[in-house]
Amino acid sequence: MNQTISYCQHGLKGEITIPADKSISHRAVMFASLIKGKTLIKGFSKAQDPLSTVNVCKTLGVEIESINESDIVVTSSGILKKHSQYLNCGNSGTTMRLMSGIVSSRNINCTLIGDESLSKRPMRRIIEPLTKMGAVIYTIDNCSPLYICGRNLHSINYHSQLASAQVKSCVLLAGLNAEGRTTFTEPSLSRNHTELLMSYLNADIKVDGLSVSVKRSQMEPKTIEIPGDMSSAAFFIAAALIVPHSDIILKNVGLNPTRTGLLEVVSKMGGNVEILDKRIVCGETVGDLRVKYSELKGTVIDGDLIPKLIDEIPIIAVMATQAEGTTIVRNAQDLRYKESDRISAVAGILKKLGADITETSDGFIINGKCNLSGGVDVDSLWDHRLAMSAYIAGFLCKNEILVRNFDCVDISFPEFEQYINYLHM
Ligand code: S3P
Repeated sequence: MNQTISYCQHGLKGEITIPADKSISHRAVMFASLIKGKTLIKGFSKAQDPLSTVNVCKTLGVEIESINESDIVVTSSGILKKHSQYLNCGNSGTTMRLMSGIVSSRNINCTLIGDESLSKRPMRRIIEPLTKMGAVIYTIDNCSPLYICGRNLHSINYHSQLASAQVKSCVLLAGLNAEGRTTFTEPSLSRNHTELLMSYLNADIKVDGLSVSVKRSQMEPKTIEIPGDMSSAAFFIAAALIVPHSDIILKNVGLNPTRTGLLEVVSKMGGNVEILDKRIVCGETVGDLRVKYSELKGTVIDGDLIPKLIDEIPIIAVMATQAEGTTIVRNAQDLRYKESDRISAVAGILKKLGADITETSDGFIINGKCNLSGGVDVDSLWDHRLAMSAYIAGFLCKNEILVRNFDCVDISFPEFEQYINYLHM
């Protein structure tokens, strides 16, 4: 499906509730599948990626049913099916990398497969630590399909070069069923939903700065409530900040500090975002946000901030085109290994729309404030975050734009268009 977007004249107004966090949805259904008994998950995501995890868990013998519009119940014996089978992870890197930790540490023989984009993404980052724990994984060129012969693993003390929550979670999930205590240390803090949810479900997990360790333990069935996704809220936050006359309220936004790098950047850029009613739900920080149009200024985004906003960089680039002065993003080389090469794709799209953006090896340099001319077609490359970022950029373009392959937004945010139309009425 292609989507046309025209200049937004009157700004965004109104209040919406942000749908469930994708990262936490994956973890909730995976962890519930390892727990003997019934787990109620409230506010589960309807996006394709978490549904890939649901399908994989079902293939492994877990019963998962929707009990209403937003809640699901997971019923498991706590032991997953042993037989060799294909586990289809679709487009989802989180499903493939985290499930690899689960199946390789249990008595399960299986093959993890994914779509064309996932089959090109690097898996060496998880194969290396898992192999050190004694896992048996066969691949061609460290990409999927991953043929895994699950078995008893032993603990490791692993120092990762990458700040990646997927790698960390994979190792912790393997460690949850390995001999001894497994420790994972990362160079800067990546999202910590695995640590928080394992703690909430009473696993034997300890956090010490940039290190986290886990020991073989059983988690307990408890109701899990999932907050709204900061990475989905990001598109509305950016849109309201850069489209004149906007004033919106976003309810139920996950505000875990390992995910709120965007808010830190917005504050440095002079953006007006107010946090209302901050609270804790199942160990996660949640709040409501009021966002108003603001005159932004350029900034530098690098170092420890990168993992806290890794998925928001495409929409931050759009925001930077409307900020006075230069914005530099650096140390974000891992963006080249996402659903697409997001460094070259973002630069390509924004340049075509009329922005002054230069690609670097690990980020980009954007000079604002740009008048975007638009009047062109751009391609999402089947990358959901590029499709939504291009959509928001379209609001600033003088001439209508067309985003090709827009339906990939369903991967993380099937409600996107309905919500943006509501705020735009
Ligand atoms: C995720 C971690 C991040 C992020 C991805 C979801 C997760 O990936 O980009 O969308 O749920 O753990 P990396 O761990 O590769 O940085």
